[in-house]
Amino acid sequence: MASTFETVGVVGLGTMGAGIAEVFARAGIAVVGVETDPGALERGRGHLDGSTGRALSRGRLTEAERAEILGRVAFTTSLEDLSDCDLVIEAIPEVMDFKRALFTDLDRVCKPSAVLATNTSSLSVTAIAATTTRPGRVVGMHFFNPAPVMRLVEVVRTVSTEDGLAEEVAGLARRLGKTPVTVADRAGFVVNRLLLPYLNHAAALLEQGLSTRDDIDTAMRLGAGFPMGPFALLDLIGLDTSYEICEALFRESRERRHAPAPVLRELVTAGLLGRKSGRGFHGEEPPANPSAEEKPSASTVAVVGGTAANGTGAADGAAEAFAERLSAAGFKTTPVEEADLVVAVSRTPVIEQAVRLPHPARLVGLNLVGDQVAEVASTVLTSPGAAQVARGLLRILGRTSVSCRDRAGFVVGALLHPHLNDAVRMYESGYASMEDIDTAMRLGCGYPAGPFEMLDRLGLETVRDGLRALYAEYRDPSFAPAPLLDQLVTAGVRSIRDLSS
Ligand code: 3HC
Repeated sequence: MASTFETVGVVGLGTMGAGIAEVFARAGIAVVGVETDPGALERGRGHLDGSTGRALSRGRLTEAERAEILGRVAFTTSLEDLSDCDLVIEAIPEVMDFKRALFTDLDRVCKPSAVLATNTSSLSVTAIAATTTRPGRVVGMHFFNPAPVMRLVEVVRTVSTEDGLAEEVAGLARRLGKTPVTVADRAGFVVNRLLLPYLNHAAALLEQGLSTRDDIDTAMRLGAGFPMGPFALLDLIGLDTSYEICEALFRESRERRHAPAPVLRELVTAGLLGRKSGRGFHGEEPPANPSAEEKPSASTVAVVGGTAANGTGAADGAAEAFAERLSAAGFKTTPVEEADLVVAVSRTPVIEQAVRLPHPARLVGLNLVGDQVAEVASTVLTSPGAAQVARGLLRILGRTSVSCRDRAGFVVGALLHPHLNDAVRMYESGYASMEDIDTAMRLGCGYPAGPFEMLDRLGLETVRDGLRALYAEYRDPSFAPAPLLDQLVTAGVRSIRDLSS
């Protein structure tokens, strides 16, 4: 039976639920918003007031439009008020027992034709559907935070979902101004299955002391072009939610990459959940002291080339180009023996080059990422002074420097290459098409390009070699290049997206 979806219920009016209610109301659909008690209901109303108030102050809504939107939302603490709804979407905490109990109640209260949807980020939609007498009319409808802004909705169909229902719900998502991607019921669906392992990896690298929270955030924003760094995004999603998603992924995959980083557990246990509790990875902290910024002292600089990621030692001209930029900025480069600072332009660790020098403490690794970021790698022998001079030099050249240890991939490669590899593995598994994965990551997470577009831009060989270097260093099986990626490089194929055309 085709559904019209004129009245929709939203159960749970936390950040996500209130955002979802706003999205429906903005599309002209009547909403019944349900919370457990009057206090929670008021907080939910507050979320809607705040979000539409912000749109008003930015000139995105008129006072009349805002009143119309808010007028479409009825607030109640009684599930019975959902009896006339054509669709009810649940956005309560990610606890299976709560969801099961709620769906049993919704099944009793809602009319037989109503669609029951869950906004779960990681739990099994099939298991939730199985608690009802209408598993055929249960789907996942997964929105992204902030729901009024992010344009993706993942529509999840289970083995029990009635034919045609996922398409109807996808049509509803389009009516909301969103782009639907329809997927089967696997932990994390497309976005969380790709996003959370990357965020979790960032937390693990922070714990290993690769770099600082702020430098990692900066590297991924300015170097990879992501709208937020991993720690800012973890705080937005909520560390408790992030932890639970990683757990769900691990339960299904048993992959070490999915096991939550210990720092996540520690922060969650301490009640530091991110934005919702006021503090997570980021929190209240004193502003940076500008006088502490590094100033380059008068130094003599030498620039040397590094080894290519494939370990061949092939020069790629990056060192020469960097030396030219230094000269153009008025710096005189000197032979290595006379230099106070030796900059080894390299995509791979530089310790081997350092130990060949008479003064290994003077060498830093340098990897230029995009046109804004410079990764400055200190080896165990690099003196703090040399790294400081290097950062000052880069500031004069107009680059934001990111300090890190001398490890495969430095920061951006270490995080981005496995993330892209995961996307290839997902495509190879047959779970989703390249187009759907690219669309999901662009619209769900605001990426400037989807993973396959990024792979083509970076070069398949560069990413494959980066993964090989990471695998050689960490021996983590999930860093081994996906067989498809390896084969495409061997076959000389330049664009992975050629496969999908
Ligand atoms: N609610 C409503 N609107 C909001 C908002 C919120 N919480 N936050 C921002 N906005 C609106 C602003 O009003 C503004 O609208 P306008 O252009 O009409 O004036 C617009 O979004 C842009 O906001 P800002 O200029 O303040 O900020 P940015 O340009 O920095 O964008 C961002 C903010 C949209 C959050 C951007 O940083 C982004 O895309 N980040 C990535 C978020 C992401 O990855 N989300 C997915 C997480 S995974 C998930 O949710 C799944 C779950 O299962 C865990």
